[in-house]
Amino acid sequence: MRRKLAAGNWKMNGTGPALAELESLAHTFPDPSVDILICPPATLLHRASQTVHHTGIAVGGQDCHAATSGAHTGDLSAEMLKDTGANSVILGHSERREDHGEQNEDVRAKARTAMDAGLTTIICVGESLEQREAANTLDIIGGQMSGSIPDQSTGENLVVAYEPIWAIGTGKVPTLEEIGEVHDFMRARLERRFGEGVGRSVRLLYGGSVKPSNAAEIFGVSNVDGALVGGASLKAEDFSGIIRALEGA
Ligand code: 13P
Repeated sequence: MRRKLAAGNWKMNGTGPALAELESLAHTFPDPSVDILICPPATLLHRASQTVHHTGIAVGGQDCHAATSGAHTGDLSAEMLKDTGANSVILGHSERREDHGEQNEDVRAKARTAMDAGLTTIICVGESLEQREAANTLDIIGGQMSGSIPDQSTGENLVVAYEPIWAIGTGKVPTLEEIGEVHDFMRARLERRFGEGVGRSVRLLYGGSVKPSNAAEIFGVSNVDGALVGGASLKAEDFSGIIRALEGA
């Protein structure tokens, strides 16, 4: 059985006072029946880890470098993330692919280093609106998966997040059929590449305008094992609604 995962991506939002949201989450879910992960900005990682220490909530980074150390001003290594108390890292988010020109090979190299460091990697894939309208969605997702996911992946160190670019921060969400089609396709790809055992154990998240009001129906879709949430993860109250929907799924 795959353990469900509610992951929050705070992106470039939050300073010290935002830690109160984590305290509130920990208070609301003293013994969560699903995995809860918050990925705050790197400046908050250490304090966030301390805040959720001994609770059912984990913290993760939003990116890391492919090298283990060296002359890379402004970058962070996977070991450094671990050192803050993080157990996971989001890699290949469409905003990194777009803002920093990250290609599939870059994401794969980062994922290798992150897995070697013992981090769980959440690798993001997703099509643009143009690609969807041209009926290229599955080709794009398939290509991103083969290019970005390293060979050493297992059900423990890999999570794949399907985030259609046009659904991120827009309030637009694919139909449940569209989400199901992509998630079933991703499951089949993983099973073909890694075998049934590993392929079936990797968790698949949906991300893009997930809210308390639409979470339950999304969590009812086949092969959706949780969500990667942006805006609605910033406030404990909103994220709690999503976690509750996942606990009930
Ligand atoms: P929103 O939930 O704000 O649409 O963002 C989704 C996302 O990009 C999570 O990584």
